[in-house]
Amino acid sequence: MGGEKEKRILEFVKQNAVRGDPQSVVDHIDKYCSQKEWAMHVGDEKGLILDKVLKETDPSLVLELGTYCGYSAVRIARLLKPNVRLITIEMNPNNAAVAREMIEFAGLKDKIEIIEGSTEKIIPRLRVDYGVEHADFVFIDHFKERYLVDTKLLEDSSLLKKGSVLLADNVVCPGAPDFLKYVRTSGRYDCTNYPSHVEYSHKPDALEKAVFRG
Ligand SMILES: C[S@@+](CC[C@H](N)C(=O)[O-])C[C@H]1O[C@@H](n2cnc3c(N)ncnc32)[C@H](O)[C@@H]1O
Repeated sequence: MGGEKEKRILEFVKQNAVRGDPQSVVDHIDKYCSQKEWAMHVGDEKGLILDKVLKETDPSLVLELGTYCGYSAVRIARLLKPNVRLITIEMNPNNAAVAREMIEFAGLKDKIEIIEGSTEKIIPRLRVDYGVEHADFVFIDHFKERYLVDTKLLEDSSLLKKGSVLLADNVVCPGAPDFLKYVRTSGRYDCTNYPSHVEYSHKPDALEKAVFRG
């Protein structure tokens, strides 16, 4: 089971949210983290940008790098059409255990597959071991020094196709400058920046959308 804070978040959801209702799970995580203890979910404000870009993309397969407690996975999966899969990768077994329970409570365990392991090990195996042809939408939200290397790993593993959308969180705080420089200057992506704030705070942050040109 997760760290102590993550367990408290899960317990708050189980005690107060409606089982089987993803929106209720999202709302109660936001409530707990804005009123009681800060935690690193994408949060309600940037979450609206995530919702908007996801809906515009209308993906067939979604990949998430960094599950944590499952907040963004539940947030994403609640908007996916039937038969659309979300695969989310988490290397911390304690966080993965909390996320599994969160997703099960939200009633989304048939839509979301958590793969426990590091992105560097899992991404190259997605095609053969998990049957992933391409990812149409990738939510990048793990350790910031991995954003660029894992973007190149996705390219090298032929997991991106023309129009695949990368949406990266925290590109201002704490920032991922090498990733931003690459997607904005390599000629391989069309980029849009969405200014916002760090979750549950007033500190500036932003999401970056990078659409693969193929
Ligand atoms: C910011 S949190 C993810 C928050 C989540 N996306 C949300 O909004 O609810 C980052 C997570 O990425 C995980 N992580 C960091 N580096 C990773 C890697 N290389 N492979 C897999 N997971 C990683 C951490 O253990 C942590 O749980």
